[in-house]
Amino acid sequence: MRERLQSIYWKNGKIVIIDQTKLPISLEYKVLENINEVAEAIISMRVRGAPLIGVTAALGLAQVAYQNRDLSKDQLILKLEKAADKLRKTRPTAVNLFFAINRIMSVAYQSPEPARNIIEEALNMLREDIEINQKIAEIGQEIIENGDIILTHCNTGSLATVSVGTALGIITYAHEIGKKIKVYATETRPKLQGARLTMFELLYAGIDSYLIPDTAVAYTMKTKKIKKVIVGADRILRDGTTYNKIGTYQIAIVAREMNIKFYIAAPTSTFDLEKNRESVVIEERGGEEVIYFDKCQIAPSNANVFNPAFDETSPEYIDGIITEYEILKKPFEKNIHTLFKSISRV
Ligand code: MRU
Repeated sequence: MRERLQSIYWKNGKIVIIDQTKLPISLEYKVLENINEVAEAIISMRVRGAPLIGVTAALGLAQVAYQNRDLSKDQLILKLEKAADKLRKTRPTAVNLFFAINRIMSVAYQSPEPARNIIEEALNMLREDIEINQKIAEIGQEIIENGDIILTHCNTGSLATVSVGTALGIITYAHEIGKKIKVYATETRPKLQGARLTMFELLYAGIDSYLIPDTAVAYTMKTKKIKKVIVGADRILRDGTTYNKIGTYQIAIVAREMNIKFYIAAPTSTFDLEKNRESVVIEERGGEEVIYFDKCQIAPSNANVFNPAFDETSPEYIDGIITEYEILKKPFEKNIHTLFKSISRV
């Protein structure tokens, strides 16, 4: 069994990432030296995936604390607030980003010795991400049977988290413990996280897998005996409404039509019990991502483009939400509330 990839490291004040824009052609590491480079890495999707965006932001603030450790607490807080503002403007949809920034900033405000404590907290978050996702991988085994044929969308593996993954973490762990599974991965236009990253991870792990065009979802479900769909999430509301990579909603609708189970896998840091549908911002990215396929132009350069990065799936289409504590079932609103109450987060 191959050791899992780790997508981010902290090395004496430097942040080292796998530069995901280079995959699958080459596995390259990049050092992020300052908060501008951290923000750029998130915006340009050198790092992406909700949990990894959160950990990157936490380490970005830890780096600000490290570089300014000799300042007074008040001066350091000013630097951190500026950095936090910059990070908040990078990508709006994954709530893990805001969760991570708030967690680090509350340490900053409360601690008499913020620099050291912020670095410790960020490194705790990095370690926790691995532990939490391993729990999701184990709890998720309840829904994976030997012989399952699974469809997944976007990338939710090592490259979307620190190391273990969420939906793809469950799939990879099933393979590791000897379950015989087959996986169909969508290419996930326009940024091709499925083709570039998920296929890379599936092949890296030695899992029997096929890449399909996004347009082949319904036909694949119908002809290839897909048993279940497992995807990740960028934000889950208190009633179970789920924001995930664009295309998730249409996959959920087709799965329902064909009586195929549809699961979300996400840590509790992906839940947002405050916002409602009207107040969630769905990121829209530049038209060039659709007009160009890498550097090759595939549409008129003056075409109007609508390029939403995420969509919204109603809870009625979701059969279960796999968290690090349990698999949440319907009624989601009641069960999410009970879980969050039991972990003292409401
Ligand atoms: O735009 P991305 O690549 O950051 O989008 C990633 C997704 O939508 C994932 O499904 C989600 O973040 C869950 S990752 C464990």
